[in-house]
Amino acid sequence: MKAAVYDNPGIPAVLEYVDMPDPACGPGDVLIAVEAISIEGGDLINRRSTKQQSRWIVGYAAAGTIVAVGENVKHRTVGQQVAAFDMQGSHAELWAVPETRTWLVPDGLSMAEGAVLPISFGTAYHCVSTKGQLQAEETVLIHGAAGGVGLAAVQLARQAGAQVIAVASGNERQARLRALGATHLINRHNQDVVEEVRRLTGRKGADLVIDPVGSTLQGSLLALAPEGRLVFVGNAGGGGLAVELWQPMQNNQTLHGVFMGALFERPAVHETVDALLKAATDRRLEVVIDRTFSLKDAASAHEHAETAKPLGRVVMKV
Ligand SMILES: NC(=O)c1ccc[n+]([C@@H]2O[C@H](COP(=O)([O-])OP(=O)(O)OC[C@H]3O[C@@H](n4cnc5c(N)ncnc54)[C@H](OP(=O)(O)O)[C@@H]3O)[C@@H](O)[C@H]2O)c1
Repeated sequence: MKAAVYDNPGIPAVLEYVDMPDPACGPGDVLIAVEAISIEGGDLINRRSTKQQSRWIVGYAAAGTIVAVGENVKHRTVGQQVAAFDMQGSHAELWAVPETRTWLVPDGLSMAEGAVLPISFGTAYHCVSTKGQLQAEETVLIHGAAGGVGLAAVQLARQAGAQVIAVASGNERQARLRALGATHLINRHNQDVVEEVRRLTGRKGADLVIDPVGSTLQGSLLALAPEGRLVFVGNAGGGGLAVELWQPMQNNQTLHGVFMGALFERPAVHETVDALLKAATDRRLEVVIDRTFSLKDAASAHEHAETAKPLGRVVMKV
């Protein structure tokens, strides 16, 4: 099969489109003929900075058609169209993943939408609802709102009835985010995020902050209301996640870490993704795809995702 691989982490051009052995389909696995691949924020971070074994196939997320199943597989059959996640391997023509890491793509949803939805919306749902416990009339601050997780969080937060303060740059992106549910927009490049949140909330701060950026965490705490909740979920900004914890202790604030890799296979979490796939099929949620490339152009696709300030996901077709 063909796949996009790297030997050493670095700029997008480290990705090479090469022949690789077909993956083995283990007893609990399904083998997927990949049709659409979602380039996740974590894929960019890994390709940029994570040393792996040579000929490492990048990628967390894809969708396609099952072409083989392992002997212990109970709930999937050849011919079904599925979305899947795993810790690596999606940037390829074939992908073997445990059946428990797959979801059926409903009729009416494109394979590209199916590839994008589970990680972005599944993670956002966990941040906004399961951990964030966002209530109607509350205010939520969402960092990285134009990114995959952020864009999903904006929609889910608005549907929960909250006031949504979204951090994103660019007039066009801001206009789209407003249409998707953002009440207020902050441009981090020319506005002080903490000061803007305080101004917009009458100095109180946001009831919930969702932070997939990491380098913004100390500011997130400063923008948080007393007894508020901070959900931290990534490090798109690079660097460590160190914060001073004196303030949250004094203000009775709660910090929640979220890592979906450990959760997606739990039945209750897995079912939330099924429900989100149905909502997207019914067009109650919008899976925003910025641009589509071919897998053979993986280096250009990563370059675009990393530098072009996309709105939503960049997808590759096989
Ligand atoms: N823990 C989990 O289970 C989980 C699940 C999914 C994703 N994640 C993580 O969450 C993070 C975001 O993922 P994603 O897929 O949404 O990424 P993405 O689509 O690449 O979006 C990242 C966003 O972060 C913003 N950003 C980048 N650098 C920034 C900085 N220095 N300061 C402020 N904002 C900055 C960007 O906004 P601008 O355009 O304004 O720069 C961009 O919109 C990644 O670290 C990813 O690994 C974690």
